[in-house]
Amino acid sequence: MKILLLGSGGREHALGWKIAQSPKVSALYIAPGNAGTAGVAINLPFAANDFAAVKRAVARHDIDMVVVGPEEPLVNGIADFFEDDDLLRKVPIIAPNKAAAQLEGSKAFAKKFMSKYNIPTAKYMSVTHNTIVDGIEFLEQMQPPYVLKASGLAAGKGVLIVNSLAEAQKELAVMLDGKFGEASQVVVIEEFMRGIECSVFVITDGKNYKILPEAKDYKRIGEGDKGLNTGGMGAVSPVTFVDAAFMQKVENKIIKPTIKGLASEGIDYKGFIFFGLINIDTQPYLIEYNARLGDPETEVVMLRMKSDIVDLFEGIANGNLDEKTVEFDRRYAATVMLVSGGYPEHYKKGEIIHGLNSVENGIIFHAGTTEKDGKTLTDGGRVMAVSAYGTTKNDAVKLCCQNAEKINFEGKYYRKDIGFDLE
Ligand code: AMP
Ligand code: GLY
Repeated sequence: MKILLLGSGGREHALGWKIAQSPKVSALYIAPGNAGTAGVAINLPFAANDFAAVKRAVARHDIDMVVVGPEEPLVNGIADFFEDDDLLRKVPIIAPNKAAAQLEGSKAFAKKFMSKYNIPTAKYMSVTHNTIVDGIEFLEQMQPPYVLKASGLAAGKGVLIVNSLAEAQKELAVMLDGKFGEASQVVVIEEFMRGIECSVFVITDGKNYKILPEAKDYKRIGEGDKGLNTGGMGAVSPVTFVDAAFMQKVENKIIKPTIKGLASEGIDYKGFIFFGLINIDTQPYLIEYNARLGDPETEVVMLRMKSDIVDLFEGIANGNLDEKTVEFDRRYAATVMLVSGGYPEHYKKGEIIHGLNSVENGIIFHAGTTEKDGKTLTDGGRVMAVSAYGTTKNDAVKLCCQNAEKINFEGKYYRKDIGFDLE
């Protein structure tokens, strides 16, 4: 089977690493990929969002299945593009369609859906220019801190958490005036939830679903979860507080109503669903959905998946996911992200990366890297995810940090405390 994977981050390197291990795969292509994906696949030079180029590549390389990593092509309707095209319709694509991807692409849609299907979540109100007065009043009834979210995709930057009411009311107006462009034409105001977060991933064919290993990611730049938000500084799996009892609640109160709700809405969801959860006194609440896998969670989730992921993809394509099994590796997995100095603000690209060959007992997933004249160079804020297994969480994180020390580039920074808040 020939597979084309779309995307270029650590998530896609990890997915590609896992797909390439399947005995069902004869060739794997990644577009556009990065310097690391070239080790597990053939990189193709076009953007994941360039649907015309995807179509040309499917024809030229005789692709049997397409797997989509990032959210933009999903929200832009890549699955619908396949469905509407006589040639592409025959090629299974592991991607929810545009209607399904609204779970991520429109927070207003997602919150309405959660409320309709009684899925535990924060109290909210969706506000537009026409209803700003209601929004200002709603904020007055809430307790600080105040959570304001751009409803649309904002590259992970569209969430503001502010302490004063005056600031929240001002930000509401600024967001509606286009602070995040079109994404904040609708703003979702939410009650703030206090608890500990985790990510749960499900793969579904629209009727059946399988739960993948859970993970916890660390989004802040600084140790102790301090400082600016980033695209993710590390992750661990399993998550200690996600025991069987907690997972049962997640399944009954959140996963099942979601799968049923989608079907009732006439939405045929094929692909991954990412549940961003928060544990409040052992009760799970849903913060958000994503229509894809998480990054950097994938860099640990793939390590813990023993089953052939391509077999699961076939289950999605054929609608018989119920006949498949997902086996987990019982070991711990951790990942630590090496980032460029200055990230998530201004940083340099093009720094030479040294020491990749000295890595021991670890697996490196590249994110922002490129290859030039035989050298591997930094090409983004998040440069690479250094992953490892361990018999305990601390062993796994320690191995990641040991390898993180061996890899060098000007300005390298990483968090040494990934997993610090878990037992
Ligand atoms: P989102 O893009 O919706 O995942 O929000 C990004 C991050 O903001 C989440 O991972 C949480 O850490 C935080 N967050 C979002 N919504 C809430 C909320 N209602 N209460 C507390 N924290 C939140
Ligand atoms: N790790 C969070 C995300 O992928 O959105």
